[in-house]
Amino acid sequence: MVRLEGTVAAIHSLTLADADELLALRIRNRRFFTPYEPVLNDDDFTAASIRRGIEQGLHDEAEDRGYAFAIRDLQTAKLVGRIRLSNVFRGPWQNATLGYYIDEASNGRGFATDAVALTTRFAFENARLHRVQAGVRTDNPRSMRVLEKNAFRREGIALRYLNISGEWRDHVIFAKTVEEA
Ligand SMILES: CC(C)(COP(=O)(O)OP(=O)(O)OC[C@H]1O[C@@H](n2cnc3c(N)ncnc32)[C@H](O)[C@@H]1OP(=O)(O)O)[C@@H](O)C(=O)NCCC(=O)NCCS
Repeated sequence: MVRLEGTVAAIHSLTLADADELLALRIRNRRFFTPYEPVLNDDDFTAASIRRGIEQGLHDEAEDRGYAFAIRDLQTAKLVGRIRLSNVFRGPWQNATLGYYIDEASNGRGFATDAVALTTRFAFENARLHRVQAGVRTDNPRSMRVLEKNAFRREGIALRYLNISGEWRDHVIFAKTVEEA
């Protein structure tokens, strides 16, 4: 069980003990997160679906394919979001993709910035990856700011990169390699 503490946030491995809080967070942010996620339906907002997602994450972690973390307010221990390294690729690439979200009610307090710093540290120091990449919708300046504050480099724009909210959206690709950590 990984646990890392930053200035305002802590991250720890996401487990079934987090399922109820995560479901509540996902339900109350359904509309807020819609522009940044694949198309979801009512079935994705049930306890069974959330538990399946967490179990899949634990399976991925055991197979070194991905690492999912709960983000908690360091002061109150309340769940404020989730961050995840996905698509871990070893061999000559040693790369993973980073994705995250923060409860709308807890936005603007530095939780994402702290969680990205901690997860990047985990990626380089614990998972021994060489590169972490994040793709951000071109109209999501808040998320770009979070990555820039973490000294991620803006590499360019990938056209029609991901199907988000029902359309193939252009994304700005940000990355950092261990040499820049
Ligand atoms: C993007 C997101 C994770 C940011 O979380 P957060 O905890 O509010 O982020 P932080 O507080 O660490 O930092 C936000 C920064 O963006 C800045 N910001 C906020 N709105 C902004 C805007 N419209 N334009 C530019 N910067 C903006 C804040 O001022 C802050 O920077 P600062 O510390 O220099 O003042 C959160 O809004 C979210 O979950 N959004 C929906 C899902 C999402 O976009 N996920 C990322 C997909 S790539």
